[in-house]
Amino acid sequence: MATESPKETGRKKAVSWLTDNRVARSIFRRGYPDNDLDRAAVMFSNFFLHVLPARTHVHSLKPTYTWGLGIISLFLFVILLGTGALLMFFYVPSTERAYSDMKDLEFVVSYGVVLRNLHRWAAHAMVAVVFLHMCRVFYTASYKAPREFNWVIGVLLWGATLMMSFTGYLLPWDQLAFWAITVGSSIASYPPLVGEYIRTLMLGGDTVGQNALIRFYVMHVMLLPGIMMILMGVHFWRIRKDGGLSRPPAPLSSPAPGEAAAFSPHKTYMLVELAEGRTPMVDSQAPEEEVMSWPHTVFRMLVVFVGVVAVLSVVAYFFDAPLEELANPDHPPNPAKAPWYFLGLQEIVSYSALAGGVIVPAAAIIGLMTIPYIDRNPEGQGTWFTSGQGRRITLWSILVIIPVVIVLTYLNEHYAVRKLVPGASQIWVDLLNPGTILIVLFAVGSLYIWRRTGSSRMGALALYSYFLTSYLIYTFIGLYFRGANWAWIWPWQATGLH
Ligand code: HEM
Repeated sequence: MATESPKETGRKKAVSWLTDNRVARSIFRRGYPDNDLDRAAVMFSNFFLHVLPARTHVHSLKPTYTWGLGIISLFLFVILLGTGALLMFFYVPSTERAYSDMKDLEFVVSYGVVLRNLHRWAAHAMVAVVFLHMCRVFYTASYKAPREFNWVIGVLLWGATLMMSFTGYLLPWDQLAFWAITVGSSIASYPPLVGEYIRTLMLGGDTVGQNALIRFYVMHVMLLPGIMMILMGVHFWRIRKDGGLSRPPAPLSSPAPGEAAAFSPHKTYMLVELAEGRTPMVDSQAPEEEVMSWPHTVFRMLVVFVGVVAVLSVVAYFFDAPLEELANPDHPPNPAKAPWYFLGLQEIVSYSALAGGVIVPAAAIIGLMTIPYIDRNPEGQGTWFTSGQGRRITLWSILVIIPVVIVLTYLNEHYAVRKLVPGASQIWVDLLNPGTILIVLFAVGSLYIWRRTGSSRMGALALYSYFLTSYLIYTFIGLYFRGANWAWIWPWQATGLH
């Protein structure tokens, strides 16, 4: 029999000293879990851990499957709640106080600037990470049954994340904040009939002023975080109910109604209830495909959390969040730019307000909300890009759309409708601009691929990749290639771009 090493004995003694006492047991109820029964019990009995199952499928733990993006999104949200609460001690949402409170954070409050930096960079990171998480869920076909509705909840979370960042943007009350929100809220006013109403509701008037500041503040610190917490609760609950994360179907699957049973020989089953149909929880997964969540999942999460905090702290220490001069409603910067995640829309608005303010956002929202209900066959769940064919279609969709976007943008720069025919009616501008043309091309291209391959999943892969690539290009153009009066410039000609 192998004897215990002194190191192991020492470790056990230390653990027992920490956990085998009345106070620790009054909090955690059980000692340190060193057998599978206790490891399972720890997951059930801990308020924070019971969101996880007692055992986790090994596929869900592969770093290259999720890249940890969902959990990083959650951690960033928690960090934002913490730093945001601390910032609230030093901030008054009034047009007279807001900017000087920002300056005080910089010069008066100890570590105020680091606190503000942490909050600002975590917010930017959250927008990017949630977006990447959505892309991973899409490209692994994890929106398919039974996860369709969780995808829809995810889309709502994505919208709420953008709104959280957008509402926070105004609070420093500097030139950057004031004009980014002025541009952003004017994009929101473009939808016919409801647009003006949305803007008035958002700003509490026609322009960005005290009413807008207090509304943005309340949405930022109360309404949106509250809504997000509820949505996240449902999101995580549904992941459990849907049988954990998606994965490729197991070779032996439980029978469809009417089929002969083909249960895994490795697993024991308990008949809780007689019901017709499949349950994802009993999808013939052998015990060797699962590991105990304690410690495998919990410790991985802990490492990710420490990593997120470490990276953020370094960034917050070395890079300061921007703070320009005090907001001046009479002196717009030229160009006035929306926050970076809306710059793609602002670029398209510059071609046609209808295309950038209505057609493109509506196509994106409707497309995202309905994709699980259109692409219904279960093909490709749990595998990146579904198959070799999916990989090729994704790559080609990206490669084909890049020159198309560049050519359309070039043509619009030189031969836009109003440049060719100065008095042309607005309808031609709305029809013949890169935004509207691209939406039509996306629809035609993805339908063609669907018909050609006979697979809705292949069509969906093409559609998503078209959207993603072209939006990134337009964001890039808005960031680096637009100067005064939104005229084309080269990045090295830029002055004072934020
Ligand atoms: C605040 C934003 C969000 C948070 C905190 C969050 C969190 C998570 C976490 C922790 C997971 C499990 C681990 C992982 O997949 O990385 C997950 C899975 C999932 N998320 Fe999100 N998520 C968010 C936004 C979204 C968005 C924008 C979408 C899609 C539009 C989405 C759709 C899904 C789906 C369908 C799953 C299940 C994936 C599977 O079974 O493989 N989530 N989310």
